[in-house]
Amino acid sequence: MSESVFYKLAFYPLLLPLSMAIQMSSLLFSSLAVFFFFFFFSSLEKTFAFQATIEDTESNNLHLVHLNSLLPSSSCSSSIKDSRRKGSLEVVHKYGPCSQQNDGDRKVTHSDILNVDKERVKYIHSRISKELSGDDGLKELDSANLPAKSGSLIGSGNYFVVVGLGTPKRDLSLIFDTGSDLTWTQCQPCARSCYKQQDPIFDPSKSSSYSNITCTSTLCTQLSSATGNDPGCSSVSKACIYGIQYGDQSFSVGYFSRERLTVTTTDVIDNFLFGCGQNNQGLFGGSAGLIGLGRHPISFVQQTASKYGKIFSYCLPSTSSSTGHLTFGRATSRLLLYTPFSTISRSSSFYGLDIASITVSGVKLSLTPSLFSTGGAIIDSGTVITRLPPTAYAALRSAFRQGMSKYPSAGELSILDTCYDLSAYKVFSIPKINFVFGGSVTVELQPAGILYVASAKQVCLAFAANGDDSDITIFGNVQQRTLEVVYDLGGGKIGFGAGGCK
Ligand SMILES: *[C@@H]1O[C@H](CO)[C@@H](O)[C@H](O)[C@H]1NC(C)=O
Repeated sequence: MSESVFYKLAFYPLLLPLSMAIQMSSLLFSSLAVFFFFFFFSSLEKTFAFQATIEDTESNNLHLVHLNSLLPSSSCSSSIKDSRRKGSLEVVHKYGPCSQQNDGDRKVTHSDILNVDKERVKYIHSRISKELSGDDGLKELDSANLPAKSGSLIGSGNYFVVVGLGTPKRDLSLIFDTGSDLTWTQCQPCARSCYKQQDPIFDPSKSSSYSNITCTSTLCTQLSSATGNDPGCSSVSKACIYGIQYGDQSFSVGYFSRERLTVTTTDVIDNFLFGCGQNNQGLFGGSAGLIGLGRHPISFVQQTASKYGKIFSYCLPSTSSSTGHLTFGRATSRLLLYTPFSTISRSSSFYGLDIASITVSGVKLSLTPSLFSTGGAIIDSGTVITRLPPTAYAALRSAFRQGMSKYPSAGELSILDTCYDLSAYKVFSIPKINFVFGGSVTVELQPAGILYVASAKQVCLAFAANGDDSDITIFGNVQQRTLEVVYDLGGGKIGFGAGGCK
């Protein structure tokens, strides 16, 4: 499959968790004058996470944090066994004890993860500015962008689920990514290259339900907009060839195919379109490939529209030693607050968000109202750390530091410049951080959504700045931890709920 080598593609995943409680609007809680409303909504308030309690001094402005609650334990605790809901999969962090995946002999450090995160953000920025200018993308991807390093790290999302592919089905661990569309896995015979994965590599010749797509099919043509790269055509078999490249220089190239996909024992999808990768690089955390949950017609969400109604939800756990869920279809009975998808998202893959403001310790950061709308914002499951306009980050950091002034500071961790040594504290307090989205939806981040804990001696504010205020803001996966996040494509809205998982 020599034609595949010439492919260079671009693409991405994301991830991390957090939690929050949702308030109806900041008005409701900040204005003492509106007594009446308090009355009215007090029962609602109780259902959420801010039961400001008497025994601890958790307040509207501070979280009391038990350090242990943010440190992963050495054994896996599965938090969601109760939810064997239809279409529900267990979500596992790539590098925690719940995962059997690993990157071979390489021990992945926090700096590694954060450095790879930079690559993802670079990729998102370039992809979005590319779509803006109408460039088809391939021109900019010269060979200098190509991987080369066989030891190159993952980068594509930190969370995966297990699904079955083929007949008879083979279980595969796939990273899920709301920032990309094509689903792919490594395939035998690995004509060029396969990276090391935990599961046996999928062999289409052993499946009775596999078929190739020809390059004259309109399905093949769709790859251009889904992957940012025009498809190729095998000169021998006329099979359609895809190529996708992610920001961290990992990529997959192979045959665009159809296969039976088993989501759960009761949910089987026939003729699912996916990439059967014969040339793959980047370690993808030992996972077998990726599930694309973006907005494009080729994504999992659109392909399963008649079954799941273009709705999915997930919860990312608070630490790498617990599990969350990824659920397809309308599922949750939790109270959710919905904000419309932002119309300024200029990409066919990403999910746009309107960020109106941010509060720290109950005080709204003083920022120009148009700051977030200028560059726009997206939510991404594959970006670890939220990237803010530099002006917003500076204001957030300064307010956070003020609230943390009694704690000893610690050195920087890669892109994280506000860190504390909390090894002398079992319990400490941090300023609450709320995001206010379009429609006055206020999402209170949980401690796991505010802090990135490398160790007790290095607990960092889990936010970073973009290079420029006009760059797109990215709401990353640390900030989403423990939240129930519901993507309703038909309804054009995204919902947030507190306490989706531990
Ligand atoms: C799909 O195409 C490849 C490449 O030409 C070929 O080796 C394989 O046999 C084809 N598979 C099927 C089921 O047609």
